[in-house]
Amino acid sequence: MFQLNENYLKLPGSYLFSTIGKKVNAYAAAHPEKKIIRLGIGDVTQPLAPAIIEAMHKAVDEMGKAETFHGYAPDLGYEFLRNAIAENDYKSRGCEVAADEIFISDGAKCDSGNIQEIFSRDNKIAVCDPVYPVYVDSNVMAGRTGTYDKETETWSDVIYMPCVAENGFAPELPKQTPDLIYLCFPNNPTGATITKAQLQEWVDYANKVGAVIIYDAAYEAYIAEADVPHSIYECEGARTCAIELRSFSKNAGFTGVRLGFTVVPKDLKCGDVALHSLWARRHGTKYNGAPYIVQRAGEAVYSEAGKAQLKEQVAYYMKNAHYILNGLRDAGFTVSGGVNAPYIWLKAPNGMTSWEFFDYLLEKVNVVGTPGAGFGPSGETYFRLTAFGSYENTVEAVDRIRHI
Ligand code: MLT
Repeated sequence: MFQLNENYLKLPGSYLFSTIGKKVNAYAAAHPEKKIIRLGIGDVTQPLAPAIIEAMHKAVDEMGKAETFHGYAPDLGYEFLRNAIAENDYKSRGCEVAADEIFISDGAKCDSGNIQEIFSRDNKIAVCDPVYPVYVDSNVMAGRTGTYDKETETWSDVIYMPCVAENGFAPELPKQTPDLIYLCFPNNPTGATITKAQLQEWVDYANKVGAVIIYDAAYEAYIAEADVPHSIYECEGARTCAIELRSFSKNAGFTGVRLGFTVVPKDLKCGDVALHSLWARRHGTKYNGAPYIVQRAGEAVYSEAGKAQLKEQVAYYMKNAHYILNGLRDAGFTVSGGVNAPYIWLKAPNGMTSWEFFDYLLEKVNVVGTPGAGFGPSGETYFRLTAFGSYENTVEAVDRIRHI
């Protein structure tokens, strides 16, 4: 008789954004006359930039002719895209990352969930609290997190690094030594950032204790301040301790197109085994590559026209972020984030829990956000709003919340 992977049974509830989706759909079905504004999941709303559409059309035409047709993509992804990434995301920032250290994928969510597979089940993970739920859930599925305590909403074998107002929503080095450290900056969900000097401390720490940092830089395009690092490889020594995850979802609107990449430097080793070779083995075995059309779309992100158009798109969303941040601050809410990130983190008012505030906003003003508790116990009294809506809806949502 077959048996289940019982680790799945330990997972409390469904995936955060599925739970929210179900609640909102049920409310919408019961109240079809209401205009619900969705600022919950960080899903983009602006159309793909013209340079990207043009590249996709051209690639579609190529696929329609025998001479230019493409079948399976190369294991790591097409060289034209990896070269563009190495040049624009790394070399131009003084980071040493070679094109053959870049693995193209269908997005950072999959990579952030899959990367734990190349590590021993005995490894101890450290996560920020609150945190993007995929990092923890994927380690639960792998049996790495111990037992779940319903009271504290924590796992016995996970090191939690609270990111709270008192520490500026920046994690402190943990007292217990981890093997894998998940960091995400600019942060999802708090929208906080850390400086290059702060990130350097993490890199030095990881090299000292022999840990690997899994660095999620999905929101780097939203960085506005000078001292905030765009890549962990801006720090000295990162090549021997860090893997970086990147996405095209937020900087180029690819949430429905699907494209991302992971950097595994060849200097990152356990004894004399390079993690690069393990990830390459996994990639080659379990993945057949992002579609040619999509990789051509990714290449267009780095064209001159693409860069200019996407700069405008990011500015559009950041105008929303500033509107939410300033509008709610003026209305007396305690708010942060929204300066180098498309997320605003606000304290639920009047001592409400985050789920109480979620229900209250949905029912009273028909605005959807994400309850902080869904990201971890330190999010219990917080709430996340995304800047990825349309400007008109963002203005309307802020006005509705202001008047509650
Ligand atoms: C979020 O809302 O946290 C993200 O959009 C989810 C994701 O990127 O998978």
